[in-house]
Amino acid sequence: LNYHVPRTRREILEVLIKGLRRLEYRGYDSAGVGIDGGNSKEWETNSKSIHLIKQTGKVKALDEEIHRQQDVDLDVEFDVHLGIAHTRWATHGVPSPVNSHPQRSDKNNEFIVIHNGIITNYKDLKKFLESKGYEFESETDTETIAKLVKYIYDNRESDDITFTTLVEQVTQQLEGAFALVLKSVHYPGEAVGSRRGGPLLIGVRSDHKLSTDHIPILYRSSGKDKKSCNTLPRMDEDTCLFPVDEKAVEYYFASDASAVIEHTNRVIFLEDDDIAAVRDGRLSIHRIKRTAGDHPARAIQTLQMELQQIMKGNFSSFMQKEIFEQPESVVNTMRGRVNFENNTVILGGLKDHIKEIQRCRRLIMIACGTSYHAGVATRQVLEELTELPVMVELASDFLDRNTPVFRDDVCFFISQSGETADSLLALRYCKGRGALTVGITNTVGSSISRETDCGVHINAGPEIGVASTKAYTSQFVALIMFALLMCDDRISMQPRRREIIQGLKVLPDLIKEVLSLDEEIQKLAAELYQQKSVLIMGRGYHYATCLEGALKIKEITYMHSEGILAGELKHGPLALVDKLMPVIMIIMRDHTYTKCQNALQQVVARQGRPIVICDKDDYETIKNSSRTIKVPHSVDCLQGILSVIPLQLLSFHLAVLRGFDVDCPRNLAKSVTVE
Ligand code: G6P
Repeated sequence: LNYHVPRTRREILEVLIKGLRRLEYRGYDSAGVGIDGGNSKEWETNSKSIHLIKQTGKVKALDEEIHRQQDVDLDVEFDVHLGIAHTRWATHGVPSPVNSHPQRSDKNNEFIVIHNGIITNYKDLKKFLESKGYEFESETDTETIAKLVKYIYDNRESDDITFTTLVEQVTQQLEGAFALVLKSVHYPGEAVGSRRGGPLLIGVRSDHKLSTDHIPILYRSSGKDKKSCNTLPRMDEDTCLFPVDEKAVEYYFASDASAVIEHTNRVIFLEDDDIAAVRDGRLSIHRIKRTAGDHPARAIQTLQMELQQIMKGNFSSFMQKEIFEQPESVVNTMRGRVNFENNTVILGGLKDHIKEIQRCRRLIMIACGTSYHAGVATRQVLEELTELPVMVELASDFLDRNTPVFRDDVCFFISQSGETADSLLALRYCKGRGALTVGITNTVGSSISRETDCGVHINAGPEIGVASTKAYTSQFVALIMFALLMCDDRISMQPRRREIIQGLKVLPDLIKEVLSLDEEIQKLAAELYQQKSVLIMGRGYHYATCLEGALKIKEITYMHSEGILAGELKHGPLALVDKLMPVIMIIMRDHTYTKCQNALQQVVARQGRPIVICDKDDYETIKNSSRTIKVPHSVDCLQGILSVIPLQLLSFHLAVLRGFDVDCPRNLAKSVTVE
């Protein structure tokens, strides 16, 4: 949304398309834009209509469609313009132009909306609106939002109803999760956005130094459209507007900072039920009423993220770039926190709560997907160093079971995005039961990092590839650091702590050594890529690697892959083994070594020809295996970081050879903000 900065339509569309490209990883089965129509240079004429362009497929397809449209004059200039754009990951209705966003209120596009999330009561709303004569064209839940705004507008009591009030009334009717932005021909140059459960931020770009670093909230008191800004004495609406005097401001509403970072690093993270409105170039944030614990202002934060971090550079995909970033990303996780000289660990985000955590009765780690595997991977060392019972839970199942949680439990929420709906709901569930909540996230300002009592940012840098790689290894390191912190005053633990901390010190070099196996792994992929299935077996510290390796293969190669606990082999999975079935085994020289050797024998005895990931100087295993991937040796509890990287590389090469889009696997999204 630009004010006082003249922009051509070409520039406006470029900003929108580029923003979508940066967000493409969040959803990519279709995309759309809504811009001011009209081709006259007159502002009044331009703003009387809205032009929608939508297309199935990736953002590139939308861009091509825009350039195919002959009647859209790209050179027309706007002093004030609001454009909205969206990439979709279908929850209701197949990917198609009509189901893409923006969704509209009617054929004249009076109100248009883009939406992330799910409106759970959309069927009731739709029924109601249909009974009032509104005709629906799509199968989406989102269309009900557009129609509902129009319904309220059409039935307004007074002509001076504001766009904010309309949206406020709509959001009160919505159940479920949403982050949305609306645009209307009735309110040209105005944007209104709101969120509940889905992330939404506003980037602010000004050529001047901003005169404030926070925006007070406008609370609506009772009565129609009468607002009072009751955060500070004698505040009226005007003093709650931002900016107070600066000119030349552009606003970017986005679900993720990566879409706006090339324009500005100053952002405001909205809270659930905030309604943010830009009108006449000024931003205000509204809430219906003030409740206890509400923060009466929203801070304008300066993000540290660099544009370069979200560019592919010389790599063919983000996933490949992120795999190769791991020597640096684990360093960033440890930076300023682990002191290798005096073997200490400091985690600023936990310092006020560590005593309470040390007194707790058990630790529960709750997460989804890869983040869950980071919990499985570190469970044993957490049990060892904290001497507490540790549960690792999949967020959805944890909620399904209504798992008992107590005030003296400490619940960890591990999430790259910090926005995964299942994890977020589990967090609220645990909070409601009085447990202390700890976030382990990669996204500053995310819902999980904001709603937990304390936590650790893993600082891996933005992760764009849908298949998580560097976030996993950084979560792993962050959880190890936590375990080390928990026992820093236990004399009996000091030798073990020193061993692990010195292991962390050399970890980046060992990761580099594993990455140098890339070519060898590519060759292996060339032998495997036409297979239907791959089994991955291991135990102890490496069970998580099996699960995570199999998940990577499933996600991006669409091959069937299963992570199997080697201890369970004889209880079923052995039946799958024959001379044709591809099997990968992980055998490292730790306390499970002998048992893993037994498993190897069992597989070989069934004519299996496993590929074994092992220690590079484990000659015994090398001798007994037809094929090995040799990795350097680390401390037992850190070895899982080194055993998973060959599988990340393997899944990447398999996907490339099978001709699939590595960063955007079919049917999946990076951040699943729906239950
Ligand atoms: C999605 C992604 C996975 C990810 C999982 C949990 O399913 O595709 O790669 O592991 O969500 O995401 P989170 O952001 O909570 O770590």
